[in-house]
Amino acid sequence: MHQDVKSILVSEEEIKEITTTLGQRITNDYKGSDKPLVVIVILKGSMPFASDLIRHIDMPLEIEFMKVSSYGAGTKTSGEIKIHLDLNREHLENYNLLIVEDIVDSGRTLQRLTQLLKNRNANCVKTCTLLDKPSRREVDFVPDYAGKSIPDEFVIGYGLDYNEKYRNLPYVGILKSEVYS
Ligand code: PRP
Repeated sequence: MHQDVKSILVSEEEIKEITTTLGQRITNDYKGSDKPLVVIVILKGSMPFASDLIRHIDMPLEIEFMKVSSYGAGTKTSGEIKIHLDLNREHLENYNLLIVEDIVDSGRTLQRLTQLLKNRNANCVKTCTLLDKPSRREVDFVPDYAGKSIPDEFVIGYGLDYNEKYRNLPYVGILKSEVYS
């Protein structure tokens, strides 16, 4: 795997700093709330990040999983989101929801997912991403918590894949172009 990496973009050490800092910020922001915090892990990519992040959130929380995909701008289903695995929970008005993602690219997935959960009466829906690619944004979406803004490179590792591989790299790297071209 490692020989396919052109360079390391976010090292293990930096990932540790990011998860620590974000965890502290989230703890401070939510600890006074009278509603329980539910962390929604978006499969598959956010699994390693969410797993580290929750261990730096120093307050009670619950975990849920969702798997979703958004349609591209050119399709007639634009504005929709496909749910492959849904929340197993009702009465969302009773919880603070925090959606955890590995990367925000066009912004469509998180924009639509946030809207979907608000439509289900959740009164507080926030988003946390490890990586943000603002230069790729196609919709007006800003994550509430973002670990690192990155340039428009093909990134893999720490949950991010190319053809389902490289998710288990302990760092985020840039994939050599000869691997995918
Ligand atoms: C990735 C990522 C986000 C989405 C971001 O998921 O985890 O869910 O794409 O892109 P967007 O901002 O353009 O909507 P992917 O569909 O690759 O699934 P995976 O996490 O299972 O790899």
